[in-house]
Amino acid sequence: MNPITTQLNYYTSRAISLHVPGHHNGTIGNLDIKLSYDMTEITGLDDYHHAETIIADSERLLTRHSDYQSRYLVNGTTTGLLSVLQSVKSSSVAVMRNVHKSVFNGLTMAGLKAYILPTTVSTVSQQYAGIDFSMINKKDLEEVTLAVLTYPNYFGETYDIKTAIEFFHDCDIEVLVDEAHGAHFDIAAGFPVSSIHYGADYVVQSYHKTLPALTMGSVIHIHHQASLKNNIRRYLSILQTSSPSYLVLSSLEQAHAFYVNYDAANFWQKRSILIQQLSHQVDVVEMDDPLKLMIRKDSYSGTALQSLLEKQFIYTELATLSEVLLVLPLWHEGDHFPMDRLLTAIKKTDVTDIPANNMIQAKNTLPTSPGYFNPVEGEERIVSLVEGIGYYTAQSLIPYPPGIPFVVAGERLTEGHVTVLQKYVGQGIRIHGMIDGKITIVE
Ligand SMILES: Cc1ncc(COP(=O)(O)O)c(C=O)c1O
Repeated sequence: MNPITTQLNYYTSRAISLHVPGHHNGTIGNLDIKLSYDMTEITGLDDYHHAETIIADSERLLTRHSDYQSRYLVNGTTTGLLSVLQSVKSSSVAVMRNVHKSVFNGLTMAGLKAYILPTTVSTVSQQYAGIDFSMINKKDLEEVTLAVLTYPNYFGETYDIKTAIEFFHDCDIEVLVDEAHGAHFDIAAGFPVSSIHYGADYVVQSYHKTLPALTMGSVIHIHHQASLKNNIRRYLSILQTSSPSYLVLSSLEQAHAFYVNYDAANFWQKRSILIQQLSHQVDVVEMDDPLKLMIRKDSYSGTALQSLLEKQFIYTELATLSEVLLVLPLWHEGDHFPMDRLLTAIKKTDVTDIPANNMIQAKNTLPTSPGYFNPVEGEERIVSLVEGIGYYTAQSLIPYPPGIPFVVAGERLTEGHVTVLQKYVGQGIRIHGMIDGKITIVE
């Protein structure tokens, strides 16, 4: 009976959250959310798709910079990204290699091709991080009118976004920044700066990931001079639900107030206690964004470390082949986060409980050169990974999480790709686009 509810009950009664959403199982942010707030557009309330009163007033409070108009999104950052891409009238867009799968989905839906920007790999996380401008041939950008940049990456790594925005603006290209993981940027000294301060044309932030908002609550900030602003509004209405949730809207409003009034003293104190405790067991890597930590231990795979923590009911954001990513709570005065339970659980965790020697090096395996997203059409065939070598892939192959394509639809599958994908599968990491070890290729 009620399998979802039963399992949620079981987990939320004991799980300790070091993952999104930012309310960490309702322990951060003192959200005032009642079932009775789940309302519709009755007189006295507002119509999200034609906001004139309370929603319009609340959206005005969202402003982070006077050059922008901000709007709530009730279907996540995904719909913000899709709406911008649908609004692009030209036929070419430039994207970083680590754009979220929703960007590739948006390109497909809009029938857009994309130039894949040469994207650098971080020496810290071994994940895509920034842009290699030295490898861009400006001729490749001649038809491009929009660049889609991921900032920060999933692992909390930043790069010089100011220079990146200036580079594209100098080429007459507008910039959409997917700041899904940066809704809390600028919250206090010591946190990274949002791209909104550097003139990005469109910035989309998943409030639900790092601030105490309900899942699906996001915000889009549109520059007053951005060329697509009217089209985007239209597509936001087309692509989002016609029954927007007041629960999500109210949580977004409260999350924004939390953001504006945040005092980080508690955060820094608890973060350093946590790092100290973890350091007895594993290596802790501090990322550019202080809200993210990566833990690793020589000779252990990320998935093995993750399962070990789960035995103590500590749930983390994701495991890669060799690391585990933690998303910390924005601790505050009066929060209900089970800090003592977390520290005790870490103390009880013994890494030597699991066999060593199962870490798989994933270094230098990601392609960094420029490329094209141009899905090919033709007869499709389902084949094993190995049989697929040399063929164009019909679907992107996406380790999930984080949901960043490892092979993009329309790319030719190489032996190198297959070696890494087999390692992912061997470690129990899910690959979207692959079913029972098989993929779809185009003949
Ligand atoms: C970089 C990035 N962009 C966009 C998204 C989609 O965001 P949302 O879940 O708010 O739709 C994600 C989700 O994980 C993401 O990691």
